[in-house]
Amino acid sequence: MKRALILLILLLLLTAAGCIGRAIQPAPPTPTATPASALNLAPPAVANGQSQFQKHQCVSCHGPQAAGGVGPQLARTTLDFPHFLEKVRNAIPPKPAYSPQELPDQDVYDIYAWLQQIQAGAKPTLIAPPAVQVQPGQETLPDGPILGMSLWTGLRCDGCHGAFAQGAAQAPALAGLSYPYERERAKMRQTAAEIPEHSADFIHDVVLKRLYQWLQQGAQPLGGC
Ligand code: HEC
Ligand code: HEC
Repeated sequence: MKRALILLILLLLLTAAGCIGRAIQPAPPTPTATPASALNLAPPAVANGQSQFQKHQCVSCHGPQAAGGVGPQLARTTLDFPHFLEKVRNAIPPKPAYSPQELPDQDVYDIYAWLQQIQAGAKPTLIAPPAVQVQPGQETLPDGPILGMSLWTGLRCDGCHGAFAQGAAQAPALAGLSYPYERERAKMRQTAAEIPEHSADFIHDVVLKRLYQWLQQGAQPLGGC
């Protein structure tokens, strides 16, 4: 009788273990990283790395000097290149997946090289992206809407004011501004000595005015200005 009971308990335990065993599925296989030697890469071009980082909006989540924001710090990443590449190729929401068609291995390699040489505490270098460069004396930007977000991140305003102009620890929210443009411009220019991004050398009045309209309309990620 006692033995039968023990057997029954054993059987129940085994069945339960079986169930648990089935409930825990093994993790789906993750794509294995291709060794760097198999990738056929040219020596990296650091400057291209920085501009690709801006062009593909990595900057809006990882910050202008890749010191972290919505996404983690990437400057001086300790990942080796194959694993870095694997992370770039796969989506880790909210990080999108980047296909080799939109961002070839070589560009990722350049980004990786740029990230490795960023000094801790480095000030962002002031390079405005070509799409928003204004010639001296030029009074208007090209006709037609410009994606507000591309000005916003291209000019690295997101690094301090937040990816969606929602404000961050170091700078106020600017989405949905209700003060007149002139006031905002004046307030911004006042701090140009400490914040080079606020200077007229960096963001021309003409560009600022367009960006201001986008901010005033709520800084919609897909909105134009
Ligand atoms: C929409 C925001 C967003 C964009 C755009 C974005 N990332 Fe990320 N990224 C993240 C977040 C958030 C994580 C962390 C995800 C997690 O670990 O759960 C991440 C993680 C990573 C990681 C892994 C870091 C680690 O140490 O594990 C790499 C590498 C990376 N991103 C590179 C890039 C590159 C390169 C670009 C541009 C080509 C880019 N990301 C664009 C948000 C973003
Ligand atoms: C290095 C961080 C940093 C960057 C980059 C930056 N800002 Fe600022 N911004 C600030 C801080 C801090 C303030 C608040 C200054 C104060 O009130 O003394 C501010 C204030 C402003 C104001 C005035 C808001 C108000 O009512 O007080 C405007 C407008 C503005 N920034 C626009 C921009 C734009 C546009 C960009 C991108 C070209 C930008 N900022 C980039 C830090 C930054």
